[in-house]
Amino acid sequence: MILFNVPPFIGKEFDYMKEAVENQKICGDGPFTKKCDTWMEERFHTAKAMLTTSGSTALDMAALLCDIKPGDEVILPSYTFSSTANSFVLAGATLVFVDIRPDTMNIDENKIEAAITDKTRVIVPVHYAGVACEMDTIMEIAHKHHLLVVEDAAQAVMSTYKGKACGTIGDFGCFSFHETKNYSMGEGGAILINNEKYIERAEILREKGTNRSRFFRGQVDKYTWVDFGDSYLQSDLNAAYLWAQLENADEINENRLATWNAYDEAFRSLEAEGKFELPVVPDGCVHNAHMYYIKCKDLKERTDFISFMKSKDVLTVFHYVPLHSAPAGLKFGRFDGTDEHTTAESERLVRLPMYYGLTEEDRECVIRAVCEFYD
Ligand SMILES: Cc1ncc(COP(=O)(O)O)c(C=O)c1O
Repeated sequence: MILFNVPPFIGKEFDYMKEAVENQKICGDGPFTKKCDTWMEERFHTAKAMLTTSGSTALDMAALLCDIKPGDEVILPSYTFSSTANSFVLAGATLVFVDIRPDTMNIDENKIEAAITDKTRVIVPVHYAGVACEMDTIMEIAHKHHLLVVEDAAQAVMSTYKGKACGTIGDFGCFSFHETKNYSMGEGGAILINNEKYIERAEILREKGTNRSRFFRGQVDKYTWVDFGDSYLQSDLNAAYLWAQLENADEINENRLATWNAYDEAFRSLEAEGKFELPVVPDGCVHNAHMYYIKCKDLKERTDFISFMKSKDVLTVFHYVPLHSAPAGLKFGRFDGTDEHTTAESERLVRLPMYYGLTEEDRECVIRAVCEFYD
């Protein structure tokens, strides 16, 4: 059976975890957490990177840092994971869902401005499949209307937009290091703080409302409870696991890209024959091969495709059910304008096996099975 996902494992994870235990520092913010944070800051050029317990809690932190007041509105795509929405619901916002572009499955930047009201505070672009949203337009709209931007870059670690790392363009960026992501610590994530003025508040928020980070830097002689906070810092054991992968980030990226490119090369002629549609990577975007999908004719064809692939021992998986039509979406938000593409495109999309270490042999099996179905 060719699995849809296998969590990345590079080989040095256990050595580093052992080192973390030997350091007698397995709580948060130990040496491996610092290595990961510094690596992200240097590699992606952001003012501050902080590991968190998940991509979801990185988004929670970002939403709280936006200082949302009840009744404030947040603009986001409906085609995303529940976490993107939950964080802003937690912060007290009303969700305003905007349609996606059918080519990239990302929020349609040309439909954002029409959704802005005098209550709008934040735009949340989600870089689906590790392909960046049209960030120049989104940032221009945000500046014009004095809005904050939180990039949900859960799937976009190592992706870039016009040379800038995804997650470093808006005010905040949120990564996921869940086991389904390109780099993993089981459960984990990171918040990137691109606007320096939020760093101190973020440290307090992450450290249970205390100024413990200032204390550790010797900036205050005792630490105390200074504001609302929670515990968003993960164990250094998890950071040790992740560090093995960040240290080898390029190798993992290249390995995934080789699979992505092999799929793409094999399927372009079938796409030209009109059999299905393939991912689009706009000019200026460099993706991280987080996902390879095809878009079938319709829901029926996709259902048949998934069962055919299963009969060939290949696991393929559909993705998000749009949030605006889900029970919680109906309760917490509204869709602005017409749902031209969100539902229709989501019903056609199916993801192929993609993970670090997928063998060439397995890759060929996937390609053969896809071609056989469409013959
Ligand atoms: C777009 C998006 N946002 C947020 C998340 C949440 O990340 P995590 O699972 O690390 O909490 C995910 C994870 O699947 C995601 O795909």
